[in-house]
Amino acid sequence: MTTIEELTQPHFDLVAGWLSNREINRWLTAEWRDKVATAVLMAVMLRNKKNRVFLVRWNDQPVGLTALADIDIADATAMVWYFLGDSTLAGKGIVSSAVTQMAKKCFQELKLKSLYAWAMADNLASARVLQKAGFQKAGKLRQAACSNGEQVDRIYFDLLASEVPAA
Ligand SMILES: CC(C)(COP(=O)(O)OP(=O)(O)OC[C@H]1O[C@@H](n2cnc3c(N)ncnc32)[C@H](O)[C@@H]1OP(=O)(O)O)[C@@H](O)C(=O)NCCC(=O)NCCS
Repeated sequence: MTTIEELTQPHFDLVAGWLSNREINRWLTAEWRDKVATAVLMAVMLRNKKNRVFLVRWNDQPVGLTALADIDIADATAMVWYFLGDSTLAGKGIVSSAVTQMAKKCFQELKLKSLYAWAMADNLASARVLQKAGFQKAGKLRQAACSNGEQVDRIYFDLLASEVPAA
């Protein structure tokens, strides 16, 4: 079973280790890409009110992260990002379930109206996660991301609060 909970200090080192893995961070925004993350950076991220960060557990074991960035209360929107820390568990539906749970929670608690995410055009697994979580393709920014040294399109997805059934 997949669950999410607010990320707290005891897991900062674990999450920073995952974020420092190039196989994970190469797909993220340039803020994290090809960088070494630390527990201090995790604390800085959590202090920023524009972020909301959740540890993902699978059968009680911490296995990944799902988060909101750029929370904009005035416009009731935020950007979604996520990763699976343990790649041996890929394809079990863990991150799709975590993103679904986070979206529902944040629509309810933060009263957001629209969430968005973007994936590099060559990140098919991420696009599938968003599709399974109910997001729709919103459009693309051409050649707007660097994937492994190649410029690729950013594919944008969005999800409205009105499209998510209440818990
Ligand atoms: C993308 C990622 C989060 C997926 O995590 P996950 O727990 O395996 O995701 P899920 O099991 O919920 O769903 C993955 C889906 O993608 C599919 N998939 C995986 N690799 C794929 C590929 N190369 N092409 C097409 N589909 C693919 C899986 O089959 C599955 O779909 P299905 O359930 O219809 O079979 C994980 O691979 C990851 O952390 N990647 C690196 C970080 C990242 O890309 N983050 C997103 C940044 S936008």
